[in-house]
Amino acid sequence: MTHHPLPRAQTPEVVAQRLLRTSVAHSFDPVTDIDWEAPLEEGAWFCVPERLSLYGTPLWEGMDEQQRIELSRHEFASLAGMGGWLELCLIQMLARYLASRDLKDPRTHYALNEMGDETRHVTMFGMLHRKLGCPPYGPPAYLRRAFTAGSLAFQDLTTFALALVTEELLDRFQREIAQDERVQPLIRRICQIHVIEEARHVSFARTELRNSVAHTSSTRRAFHRHLTGLAASLDVPCLLDPSLYRAVGLDPAEARRQARSNPHFKETMLWSGEKLIAFLTETGMISRAQHLWWRRAGLMR
Ligand SMILES: [Fe+2]
Ligand SMILES: [Fe+2]
Repeated sequence: MTHHPLPRAQTPEVVAQRLLRTSVAHSFDPVTDIDWEAPLEEGAWFCVPERLSLYGTPLWEGMDEQQRIELSRHEFASLAGMGGWLELCLIQMLARYLASRDLKDPRTHYALNEMGDETRHVTMFGMLHRKLGCPPYGPPAYLRRAFTAGSLAFQDLTTFALALVTEELLDRFQREIAQDERVQPLIRRICQIHVIEEARHVSFARTELRNSVAHTSSTRRAFHRHLTGLAASLDVPCLLDPSLYRAVGLDPAEARRQARSNPHFKETMLWSGEKLIAFLTETGMISRAQHLWWRRAGLMR
């Protein structure tokens, strides 16, 4: 394909150097920058209630305030559990990206820095799980196996497109939570830290993805478009572990059925994917042939 050179301010090397400098100025340690000893606030939510999977359903109407708050605790724990696992996957994908890179290159240095951020994020989500006392929510066994086998075929295109699937979706939920005074201060602090550090990861992934697209043949790009769409269609529906409904005293099969057909929740998922879908379409990582995968992921109409 025709390769249009990027303006100098946006070349991957210049972006990586800028992100390395920002990392020095704005990085957090979840062990010391979060007050884990502070008690949880009575009556506060664990995420934005209007974004919960059952909001507005007949089941929701039958729940009292306490049970709704409990649902928010388990839904946030599930997002954190699945988010932590996806970040562990990203660490593995970055390690593979690094294996063939020049150690002198600032892109190498930034990718190593980002791995460091992610190890602290996974620790933060793990400490949150302990604090919330929820079951260890995470991916189903088939998804773990699919990643182990499928990721062998990943290249930079898939690595950075899939990094964006996790990062851009969680970013939308977490920016809103960080601003919402109805939510527990602990959760808002976690979201605030994660949003600040993830903004760098999104810049890096977007730049690397644009660069990879410009250097990949159209046949290879078509393969990775499908692989990205397929992976997203498997990952995204697992963000909410269905066992959480039982933990809040609901019939899991009925709750899952109502969540799946809930128009509010469908809109929430579309809203969470807006920026991601626009970017992947603009860069040529989604074409009409992959719309089915992205609809299955709940991110397209
Ligand atoms: Fe992260
Ligand atoms: Fe990240």
